[in-house]
Formats: sequence, C-alpha cells, structure tokens
Amino acid sequence: MSRNLKLVGISGSLREDSVNKKLLDVCQSLLPDNVEYEYADYTDVPVFNQDKENPLPESVARFKKQVESADMLLIATPQYNGSFPGVLKNAIDWLTRPEGDNSLSGKVAGVVGATPGQSGTIQAQLHLREVLGHMGIQVPAHPRIMVSGAYDLVDDQGKLNLPERDAKSYEKMLQELVKLAGVR
Ligand SMILES: Cc1cc2nc3c(=O)[nH]c(=O)nc-3n(C[C@H](O)[C@H](O)[C@H](O)COP(=O)(O)O)c2cc1C
Repeated sequence: MSRNLKLVGISGSLREDSVNKKLLDVCQSLLPDNVEYEYADYTDVPVFNQDKENPLPESVARFKKQVESADMLLIATPQYNGSFPGVLKNAIDWLTRPEGDNSLSGKVAGVVGATPGQSGTIQAQLHLREVLGHMGIQVPAHPRIMVSGAYDLVDDQGKLNLPERDAKSYEKMLQELVKLAGVR
C-alpha cells in the first residue's frame, strides 16, 4: 500500500469563475485514492515588497505554511500576454522568501492550463516550467495537456467537462506527478 500524499492546487487566475480553478476541480476528481487535495487561495497575498518580509504578512505566512504541507503542487494557469499572470509570479516570489526559507524547496509540481482562446496556454506553461526549473522543481515532462476553447466546455452548472481523451491524459499526468512525489 503506497503512503498517503497531499496535493495543493494553485490557480494562476484569482477570478471567481475561473476556468483554471474549474480545471483544478477536474484534476482533483481524477486523483488516486491515497492523495488528499487542498486548494490554496492566495487572493489576500499582497504585492511583493522586500521591505515587508520581516515580519511576513499574515496572509503570506499562511500561504507558505499550506504549500509547505504539500508533497506536490498542481498549478493551473491561464495565459496573459504571452506568459503566465503576474499574480502567480508574485505568489511564487513570496513563497521563496525570506532568504533561506523557500517553501518550494523539494517540491514537485504539475503544470496545466486553460484558455478560452486557441493557444492552449502554451507560452504560459513554457515560461512557468522555466521558472520552476530555475528553482529545481521537477515537473512531469509528459503528457502536456492544454485546454483550448475552455468557455465552451463549461456546462450550465458551471462545471468544466473535458473531452474523454483529455481526461485520460490528465489522469496519466497526475500519476506521473504522484510517482515523482513518491520517490523524493
Ligand atoms: C491581461 C490579460 C491578458 C490576456 N492575454 C491572453 C493571451 O495572451 N492569450 C490567451 O489565450 N488569452 C489571453 N487572455 C484571456 C484569458 O485567457 C482569459 O481571461 C481566461 O479566462 C483566463 O482564465 P480564467 O478563466 O482562469 O480566469 C488575457 C486576459 C487578460 C486579463
């Protein structure tokens, strides 16, 4: 029997009705039974300012603690102007501070993304992978899944419905992520 693991979901969009939050919900439903899921809401994390590191804002301390409690992260990002959103970079920057207290140390992360457009968040995901790689965070190489035309996949109840073939790929990617987390 494999040990229990915890996955924390982070959305690059803070929007109430975000399709990326909905994508995290879909992924949660595909997780193996031994993985506990928690969504990290960092809406109240302020704009980064190195003058504000000591003491850490309460919202940042809480967010860091939640991320530290995870064996693995799953980041769902939209694409803003050819990259991932500034709020997500801001959140990542806070997680790495203050110096010597990097909440992302030793983590593995899955990267997914949804957009109403046709780009499938390719550039956003590539940039995010580069930033995570810079910090030594391992990300499953495959499968890479990006949801295009996402608004058309949301039903009247507000649920995102992935085509069956995409759901299978997500399941595979999540299994790869769990495997990465399990060997650390
Ligand atoms: C500042 C900004 C820039 C955007 N740039 C892009 C873009 O480069 N490519 C794209 O497909 N969509 C772009 N969009 C549209 C987003 O994909 C859209 O807002 C999407 O709903 C965001 O995901 P969410 O539903 O999770 O909030 C942009 C939106 C904003 C607010």
